[in-house]
Amino acid sequence: MYNCPDLIIDSHGRTGSVSLFNLTAAFVMLLLLASGVVNAADRPGYYGLGAAASPEEISGWDIDIRPDGKGLPEGQGSVEDGEFLYEAQYAKCHGSFGEGVGRFPVLAGGEGTLTDSRPSKITDSYGAHTSTLWDSIRRTMPFTAPESLTSDEVYAVTAYVLYLNDLIEDDFVLSRDNFTSIELSNNLNFIPDQRPDVANGRCMQDCTDPASIRIVSSVMPVVQDTVPLVIDNRAAEAAGEKIYGQYCSLCHKSGMGGAPVVGEVSDWQGRAAAGMVTLKKRAIDGYTGRYGFMPPKGGFTHLTDQEIEAVVEYMMDSSQ
Ligand code: HEC
Repeated sequence: MYNCPDLIIDSHGRTGSVSLFNLTAAFVMLLLLASGVVNAADRPGYYGLGAAASPEEISGWDIDIRPDGKGLPEGQGSVEDGEFLYEAQYAKCHGSFGEGVGRFPVLAGGEGTLTDSRPSKITDSYGAHTSTLWDSIRRTMPFTAPESLTSDEVYAVTAYVLYLNDLIEDDFVLSRDNFTSIELSNNLNFIPDQRPDVANGRCMQDCTDPASIRIVSSVMPVVQDTVPLVIDNRAAEAAGEKIYGQYCSLCHKSGMGGAPVVGEVSDWQGRAAAGMVTLKKRAIDGYTGRYGFMPPKGGFTHLTDQEIEAVVEYMMDSSQ
């Protein structure tokens, strides 16, 4: 469900003087108080304005669909019905085969391009969940009349886009019951972020001087234009260990997604045979092996090749 942001009326006199707006507001407030509309001034945070949203009003906003299908309405739609609607409403922008017209989004294809320098992030090649497709068709389409489709029509158009992506056959009828049987191909490449949440306690007294706070880690590119990170072997190893802890340990500490665990000799024995040059190259370029997918540079593409090489040295040294 979406929360609507609170409407905040800023009544601070910006110049420090009483503005006409403030006077008017105060006058209106007085009237309301006198008429008994505002009778709760003693309840903090309660201004006596507006009304509680009714369940019907909330249900108009609460239209999100979960990947497990929770939130889907009753209904169904066939690929065939979807084709009819698609041709009438969508083909002029997205192309009859989902190929995209002009600069309008492509809806089909793109498999296997995610590691290219210009990846095609399309429905099936990039998406994780069918529910995202269903939800965005209902929420945003057709372009000129969003949220105007009936549930059956959303099922039908979704089915047709899935069909264009070779995920279902042309006689398929999509419904709430079979919705979760369809998995997008890139689904498994979305991994949970295991970094812990950082508790940020509120401080009211004796607080840390902001000037003394140092940022010790970041997932954003670190610009290092003056000091070369790798100076000599010892420094390289220390840098490798640090980068490993900051980034690569996400998978290589626990073995997430099939990653060989650093420190587990048996996990690395077979790999060492490939030679350091190959291991480094695979860590830089990415590698799909028997156990899983190692993304290029672990997904942290701002790291330099030199840094990755230093990490691989550290990982191998720690695992024999
Ligand atoms: C998202 C998870 C993930 C992250 C993050 C990750 N790796 Fe990996 N890595 C893997 C997986 C999975 C494999 C095993 C692939 C296989 O052999 O099936 C692997 C394998 C490797 C290998 C062995 C390659 C081979 O030829 O056997 C090296 C070296 C490596 N990773 C280095 C790194 C470095 C350096 C980093 C950090 C910059 C890193 N990894 C971050 C998942 C990850």
